[in-house]
Amino acid sequence: MSRLTAARGFKDISPQDIPTWRLIEDAARKMAGLHDFQEIRTPILERTSLFARGIGDATDIVEKEMYTFADKGGDSLTLRPEATAGIVRAVIERGMLESGGRPLKLFALGPMFRYERPQMGRQRQFHQLDAEVFQDPGPLVDAEVIGFLWAFLRELGLGGLTLSLNSLGCPQCRPRHREALVKYYQGEEKALCPDCQRRLSHNPLRLLDCKNSDCRALAGKAPVMKEFLCPECGAHIEGVSLALTDLGLAPVWDSTLVRGLDYYCRTAFEVLSGDLGAQNAVAGGGRYDGLVSALGGPDAPAVGFAVGLERLALLLKERAGLSAAGPDYYVAILDPAALGPAFRLTGALRARGFTVAADWEAGSLKSRLRRADKIAAKKVIMLGADEIASGQATVRDLLTKEQASAPFADPEAFA
Ligand code: HAM
Repeated sequence: MSRLTAARGFKDISPQDIPTWRLIEDAARKMAGLHDFQEIRTPILERTSLFARGIGDATDIVEKEMYTFADKGGDSLTLRPEATAGIVRAVIERGMLESGGRPLKLFALGPMFRYERPQMGRQRQFHQLDAEVFQDPGPLVDAEVIGFLWAFLRELGLGGLTLSLNSLGCPQCRPRHREALVKYYQGEEKALCPDCQRRLSHNPLRLLDCKNSDCRALAGKAPVMKEFLCPECGAHIEGVSLALTDLGLAPVWDSTLVRGLDYYCRTAFEVLSGDLGAQNAVAGGGRYDGLVSALGGPDAPAVGFAVGLERLALLLKERAGLSAAGPDYYVAILDPAALGPAFRLTGALRARGFTVAADWEAGSLKSRLRRADKIAAKKVIMLGADEIASGQATVRDLLTKEQASAPFADPEAFA
């Protein structure tokens, strides 16, 4: 029989990695709380049409990266490739946007699925911290959202990160940039990669962030959106930049930052790391004022971001000291007669809130001490024939090496 393995691009998060993941998730929840965000958990499966309409038919995600299947009732469902569309669906469906209400600030943590070629920092199942704010059109909230993202990354002690910023304009000014792009690329089609040749007719903006070297060379001289911004979009991004300065952040302007999802307008940003190789985007986001109404909701401006947690785990991997805390006690059973008393004492100590580890068979003192050491227990309770006869367990503190006796029938003696 062939060996069973996880599907390509799907990974277990093993017990050794859990402390890193807990650190990330705890920092996410802490910083979300500090920035006044509430948690939402939406389903991992949504109707396929949500993503086709939400993310855009002409995006790589919708064109080739979605896990889509028909369920037994014939409905087309898709494993969520990102969190924003599902959160927008939930917000509309649950009527969470009251007219004239205060901004709604939500965050989510969980797995996403994209059928991409796996490599370092890129998986088919990966996890995101996602944050979204609805009903605030102003530039300050864009900066607040970026501030939350940055505070989260700083809480994890990460350095060597760059914040890139661009404006993608709005439905008023963007068409003029699009026109200029199409004109610029006319006659250059043959120099473009096959993907860009296809994109030129339906999504020319994406030509700007193609990784192919010939496409990059052309993109470097392409017309930039900044020169086409309408006064309102210009003022908005100016306001975002100023507010970021107030937060002590110095974004780098990047005219080729266009994002891989179609819903963005105005502010677009990414956080890049110099330590991740090709998959260097740690986080990305921006404003998407038209999405809520495009999905059938009220006219509600919105802005948000998502961070890839695998990439953070990679950056944190080198950090020392990220191991799970060992148990308070390891109960070392040195004689079969100690099994019953050890079992009862273990239960009684756990009921009092202590973490206790034990192996339910008698072993030599040497092997039991080795085991206590391996799991980094703070104290060992030794129960052998002598202890059973005297009613007194031997308790050794593995840090101070001090040893004492305690009546094993009385769990209070261990508190
Ligand atoms: P995104 O740029 O597609 O944006 O993804 C955000 C982050 O998720 C990326 O910067 C990266 O760290 C991580 N990521 C994406 N794909 C993979 C993968 N295959 N393996 C590992 N990590 C990955 C969004 O998803 C938008 N929904 C962000 C947003 C929220 N915009 C507004 N609100």
